[in-house]
Amino acid sequence: MTETLRLEATINGRPRSVPIAPHHTLLEVLRDDLGLTGSKECCLVGECGACTVLLNGRSVDSCLVLGIEADGGEVITVEGLTRDGRLSRLQEAFLEYGAAQCGYCIPGQLVAAQALLASNPHPTRPEVEEGLAGNLCRCAGYEQIIEAVLAAAEGDAVEGEVAAASGRGATRSEPEAGKQLDVAATPDATVAPQ
Ligand code: FES
Ligand code: FES
Repeated sequence: MTETLRLEATINGRPRSVPIAPHHTLLEVLRDDLGLTGSKECCLVGECGACTVLLNGRSVDSCLVLGIEADGGEVITVEGLTRDGRLSRLQEAFLEYGAAQCGYCIPGQLVAAQALLASNPHPTRPEVEEGLAGNLCRCAGYEQIIEAVLAAAEGDAVEGEVAAASGRGATRSEPEAGKQLDVAATPDATVAPQ
């Protein structure tokens, strides 16, 4: 009989308690045990960043972390980046700048960018490039991704767009519901394998 451990952690702001296999990675726990398939499986050796999550505020490759290492900790996945059911400023910027192509790398890019902006709210372009250096994009959408992060860091432009979308301004229409899903859920929903 396979031994199980119990993982107790705060996942996307919610206390969770779940039995896990001792050898399962945090990525496996998130995807298979908790159904949080936003974090992507790709290289599984820490090279692509598709599986990036925040563990106790630090971005980590969840394919390289044992699930039980998150015990007692706090994990934020791409699903946890929304605020009150709305896309975050950063997610809005990714939409605005067309940063998602196939979308597979985007959850990891968003989480890595979130970590970068948390530690450095106004990064320079080289700092964004360095901050996202561990996240590969096979569609080579780096320029749009960097532009989106810089725009989110500037804040006003994207905040203004968000305000407009919510009816507090009048400069751009709100992204369609299906388009909003492109950032956080398209890799699961329509394009990428789960
Ligand atoms: S899947 Fe974890 S770094 Fe590539
Ligand atoms: S958008 Fe396709 S891998 Fe980055």
